[in-house]
Amino acid sequence: MKRDDTEKRAKVKVIQFDQHQHALTELEQHCETFADVGGLEDIKKKINMDFILPLQNPEYFKAFGKATGGSLLLFGPPGCGKTFIAKAIAGEIKANFIHLELQAILSMYVGQSEHNLHDIFEKARDNSPCVLFIDELDSIGGNRQGMSQHHDRVLVNQLLIELDGLGTFNDGVYVIGATNTPWYLDPALRRPGRFNKMVFMPPPSEEERVDILNLKLSGKPHDQIDVLKIAKKTCHFSGADLEQLVSDALDQAIERSLQQGKLSPVHQTDLESSLQGRVPSTLEWFSTAKNYAMFSDANKAYQSVLDYMKRNKLK
Ligand SMILES: Nc1ncnc2c1ncn2[C@@H]1O[C@H](COP(=O)(O)OP(=O)(O)OP(=O)(O)O)[C@@H](O)[C@H]1O
Ligand SMILES: [Mg+2]
Repeated sequence: MKRDDTEKRAKVKVIQFDQHQHALTELEQHCETFADVGGLEDIKKKINMDFILPLQNPEYFKAFGKATGGSLLLFGPPGCGKTFIAKAIAGEIKANFIHLELQAILSMYVGQSEHNLHDIFEKARDNSPCVLFIDELDSIGGNRQGMSQHHDRVLVNQLLIELDGLGTFNDGVYVIGATNTPWYLDPALRRPGRFNKMVFMPPPSEEERVDILNLKLSGKPHDQIDVLKIAKKTCHFSGADLEQLVSDALDQAIERSLQQGKLSPVHQTDLESSLQGRVPSTLEWFSTAKNYAMFSDANKAYQSVLDYMKRNKLK
């Protein structure tokens, strides 16, 4: 699907927390679907099995006494599509989507943030089937002992209470959390029934980089581009790094068009020159993750990270 095929995109009700009005606001939005997400086939398959099929066939799951709903924790280096795929899940299942940036509910009034959090879970239950996406989980999920502020601790406890409802009264509510630093999460959040399914979102492979570059160039005026050549030179680049690369190349084409007074498409050289001096933004994350994966990973939650590093010859 082309990115400009807006009318074919799923329309979903998106509920967001308005930081200024301190209230939930609703709007109808066209959401991305899996077709807009380059690569990540294994992850799409897993999400399909765990999330989408139960939602589309609830009668089978109910017959066997299984609740439809659940939770998933996406983790990985920045810019590798955690937020992007969560939105695409909502588009894919045409469920209502609540996007909660935790930072937004950290109210200055003591006691207000946990009410806000409770209201948001209530809203998700009222709007089921609903995907509740809790982004930037690290901003509160931190280890409770290590937290300086009592008020943050209360909020983590509230989150635990809400998540515990997942098996019973959260039927049809799908909670997706995202974090760059899962090792800082309160271990209580990772217990069964809460965020016990962790999914690693790695940087795109060479083949996936081809897909992403094509998606980002699609609909823009461009020459015949050797995308594979660029993909070969962008090992460890995140999806966001690739998006930036294409965006810089588009800027060059616009500048040239303005100078020449006629439309000048993106050339291969624009991409090559915007690649100059650019380094992948994911490497720093891997050097930190490696320590946690090797020395504090009793449950092998980070084995996927080590496997990725080995496969991609990262030290
Ligand atoms: N697999 C992908 N296919 C297409 N675009 C992608 C993909 N991965 C990342 N992108 C692009 O990169 C941008 C940044 O991705 P996103 O915001 O989802 O990263 P993130 O993992 O949530 O990062 P952070 O940890 O910084 O929040 C997206 O808006 C999207 O345009
Ligand atoms: Mg994000």
